[in-house]
Amino acid sequence: MASCKQWTVFLSLLCLVSATMAAPLKKPVAVPFGRNYMPTWAFDHIKYFNGGKEIQLHLDKYTGTGFQSKGNYLFGHFHMQIKMVPGDSAGTVTAYYLSSQNNEHDEIDFEFLGNRTGQPYILQTNVFTGGKGDREQRIFLWFDPTAAYHSYAVLWNLYQIVFLVDDIPIRVFKNSKDLGVKFPFNQPMKLYSSLWNADDWATRGGLEKTDWSKAPFIASYRGFHIDGCEASVEAKFCATQGKRWWDQKEFQDLDAQQWRRLRWVRRKFTIYNYCTDRVRYPSMPPECKRDRDI
Ligand SMILES: *[C@@H]1O[C@H](CO)[C@@H](O)[C@H](O)[C@H]1NC(C)=O
Repeated sequence: MASCKQWTVFLSLLCLVSATMAAPLKKPVAVPFGRNYMPTWAFDHIKYFNGGKEIQLHLDKYTGTGFQSKGNYLFGHFHMQIKMVPGDSAGTVTAYYLSSQNNEHDEIDFEFLGNRTGQPYILQTNVFTGGKGDREQRIFLWFDPTAAYHSYAVLWNLYQIVFLVDDIPIRVFKNSKDLGVKFPFNQPMKLYSSLWNADDWATRGGLEKTDWSKAPFIASYRGFHIDGCEASVEAKFCATQGKRWWDQKEFQDLDAQQWRRLRWVRRKFTIYNYCTDRVRYPSMPPECKRDRDI
């Protein structure tokens, strides 16, 4: 039985390799901040450069700040270039995420946890479906995210949610409706980003406190690309559902090279994966069956 199952996996992998050609994600086009986004809070802590092509979020002991997309989206490719807070960033968190607006909300999160000078950032990702999260994964990055801009993106369609760093998949959350797991598909989401103080938990579990003598802490942004199906908050489906590039076959699964890269990230950079946390989850969450095949 077990070997039969493995054989099937092997065969379908073979098919996958032969059937899927590398499908590059559509190249994002940089636009000014104001095209797709607006400030959410502490407006005076957002600074604009080059006519809004580049912005900075400032965090000091009085407040952090944040912004959000003007539109709501159901599926698409969402992309941002960010340069994280340099130097001593311990205690700070820079977040970039999608979230729906209701009670049983869906959410797709990137959270960058700062650190002492020279110590590595952690990238934490999470997925909420129908109000339920607790699906944290944590990795170190293979570069210093404070030294230059890097791109952070989400590909979201009916089949999968892919987290990408510089176009390398670092996580995939497959639609596991067949396993009884909710998948975000009928609640439009806005994009959000913010920089705030979280020294009660962020760095080494709250041991490292934010050093306010180093303020302001500054995260820089550019790109501001959004390629999604815009929908009203109440919409249950997108008007062009199934017809956009991200809905097409080559984006319904990772291709062979993307799987290889994801495995590389997994092997080399994983710090924590809720799927393998038997203390927290004595029995494995169902969607992790898909995670394990990686
Ligand atoms: C910060 O650096 C320490 C020491 O290298 C490390 O244990 C920790 O995982 C790093 N990141 C965070 C966010 O705490």
